[in-house]
Amino acid sequence: MNTVRTVAEVRAALAEPRRAGRSIGLVPTMGALHEGHLSLIRRARSECAVVVMSLFVNPTQFNEAGDLAAYPRDEHRDAQLAAAAGVDYLFAPAPDDVYPPGFATTVAVAHLTEPLEGAHRGRAHFDGVTTVVTKLFNIVSPDVAYFGQKDAQQAIVVRRLVADLNMAVRIEICPTVREADGLALSSRNVLLSAADRTRAASLHRTLQAVQHAVARGERDPSAAKAPGLAELTAADIEPDYLELVAIETLAPVDRIDGDVLAVVAARVGPARLIDNEIIRVARPGGAAPGTELSENGRP
Ligand code: PAJ
Repeated sequence: MNTVRTVAEVRAALAEPRRAGRSIGLVPTMGALHEGHLSLIRRARSECAVVVMSLFVNPTQFNEAGDLAAYPRDEHRDAQLAAAAGVDYLFAPAPDDVYPPGFATTVAVAHLTEPLEGAHRGRAHFDGVTTVVTKLFNIVSPDVAYFGQKDAQQAIVVRRLVADLNMAVRIEICPTVREADGLALSSRNVLLSAADRTRAASLHRTLQAVQHAVARGERDPSAAKAPGLAELTAADIEPDYLELVAIETLAPVDRIDGDVLAVVAARVGPARLIDNEIIRVARPGGAAPGTELSENGRP
């Protein structure tokens, strides 16, 4: 694996494989790698001739200075894990190379960025994500880029961005990797105390409780959410939101009569955690239910 630091270096490294028509896969990350990131890398490795992973803790997408400062960083460990999972080029730029003095452009996606994480973290969060992702796509020019369903709204927003701006990259959304007790892997999990770590597992139990209510035939979103809210209360967690939203628009549904996305966000101790599950409502003659956003969650 080669580590490249500058835009010029990564472009030079990819010029030859691109000329030779070899496919290039990009896995954008902020480091602090875990099995979730590694699953994206392995998927890229299995589908692309050249795998690039970016490692950049993007300051513009953090809405709290404390969150940015506390974000776990260990490039040495990340480089070892990335190499072992099959990354060819680790692109780890300095902030000044990504945002040089005088930087003045923002790429913003409307509507899909407004609810849920947009409402809780503010506009600037997704503006930061879509701007840096646009830059990474322009720098690397990947054929395919890999994102996790764990950050479902982000993945849906990126798909919108790519479609709206005619970017020549295919977006693949990969399933959420979880701990044995259901907690979605997240770089922020290392911030949890042992007690908070136990409480954090209730986020996924909440989604499952909602899923079970729908499976039992509940079609009213408030009633379907009730057992989920009870899970959170039992764990002494006050959620930022627990919503059932339409996959295409991320707007709350007033009746569950098709596939919906159940999303939850909550602060657990020092960490703000998010999770989601697609709830598939079988329609007579419809496709067999699955659990991944990649199957038919395209906006
Ligand atoms: P980061 O939080 O490092 O996540 C990088 C990628 O890993 C994202 O696509 C995320 O959805 C995915 N991921 C995280 N946890 C996962 C899990 N448990 N299972 C599967 N995939 C998981 O998301 C970002 O960085 C940034 O916003 C970024 C896109 C890099 C832009 O700065």
